[in-house]
Amino acid sequence: MTPPKTALPATAQRTIPFFDLSEQTSELMAELRPAMDRVLGTQRFILGEEVSAFEREIAAYLGVRHAIGVSSGTDALTVALAALGIGPGDEVVTTPYTFFATTGAILRVGATPVFADIERGTFNLDPARVEAALTPRTRAVLPVHLFGQAADMGALRALCRARDLALVEDAAQAVGATIAGQRLGSLGEFGCFSFFPTKNLGAFGDAGLVTTQDDRLATLARSLRSHGFGERHHSLRLGGNFRLDALQAAVLRVKLPHLDRLNAQRRSHAAAYLKAAPPALELPRERAGTEHVYNQFVVRSPARAELAAYLLERGIPSERYYPYPLHLQPTCAPLGYRAGDFPEAEAAAAESLALPIYPELQDWMRDRIGDALAQFRAVPSGSG
Ligand SMILES: Cc1ncc(COP(=O)(O)O)c(C=O)c1O
Repeated sequence: MTPPKTALPATAQRTIPFFDLSEQTSELMAELRPAMDRVLGTQRFILGEEVSAFEREIAAYLGVRHAIGVSSGTDALTVALAALGIGPGDEVVTTPYTFFATTGAILRVGATPVFADIERGTFNLDPARVEAALTPRTRAVLPVHLFGQAADMGALRALCRARDLALVEDAAQAVGATIAGQRLGSLGEFGCFSFFPTKNLGAFGDAGLVTTQDDRLATLARSLRSHGFGERHHSLRLGGNFRLDALQAAVLRVKLPHLDRLNAQRRSHAAAYLKAAPPALELPRERAGTEHVYNQFVVRSPARAELAAYLLERGIPSERYYPYPLHLQPTCAPLGYRAGDFPEAEAAAAESLALPIYPELQDWMRDRIGDALAQFRAVPSGSG
């Protein structure tokens, strides 16, 4: 059937995907295929030269002495904490507002997560509240660079140095982001990265990385990712199978040289949204001296449900990151926290909404999102 002459342009009827890798994959296919074929040619599927080459390349990019490829971001956190000897009886101060894995890794090594509330503007750990949460059992502080923006590393580093505490960065969402010109993940005892496909540097499956500037910790982390082996078949400490696959390393080697460009595209989408958005919305704020890489672009509104419905009517999907603060999740019930303990994290969980921001968003998509934001007027709840 021929559409009537008055039909809207095709794009006006299309829903924008929240995330879509297909364009990136097809753009890079001419590089990806030979890289994957190279691995098939060697038949070396786990660790090996492909993984070592990726480790060298990303270590240079991040400005770290050591990069150790692992099986996921979750496993990166587990390996880092285990390498620091953190376990039962130890406390790790961290944020209640993040993806579950950050706290899950602390629990998995047998240690106790101790939550400190976040700053309102950046969604990241508040150093003053971290300080208030320290006890004689605290062994480490574990900030998350949430949504791609640095936590207050100056204050957190000073605090950890003064008390001889380890600082482990969860940089899963922040590969390529900087603070004072330094890449995140290079500033603590360990940096932990995820290459889950939706991350700014995404593999074709699960993959992760541990980084460190410390030779001794690097040796421990390498051993822990392969059953705690020193020499093969000789286990010195309890580790696991946390190894990176060669096919994932090959994909990541192709994508790494494009990362700064892809991050710049995310930043340019963010700049367009920031320009368009009305005062009715609370917008992401960039900490001075940092470069945010917008793994997510998260706005806040007390009228979140109305905002999400309003966007969806215009073909714009959104996601709640993260709807349940960690201290109120069943897995953390034994820690004894209650609603009201972390008001900033709880408010963020109630009000935050993430908008599409992947690099390949087309102009019409970005324009539609910008226009929708510009025209949004919050309906005060109860006003009907
Ligand atoms: C902040 C944060 N930490 C840790 C992880 C865990 O990474 P992965 O999914 O690769 O295990 C993620 C990934 O979603 C994350 O966003």
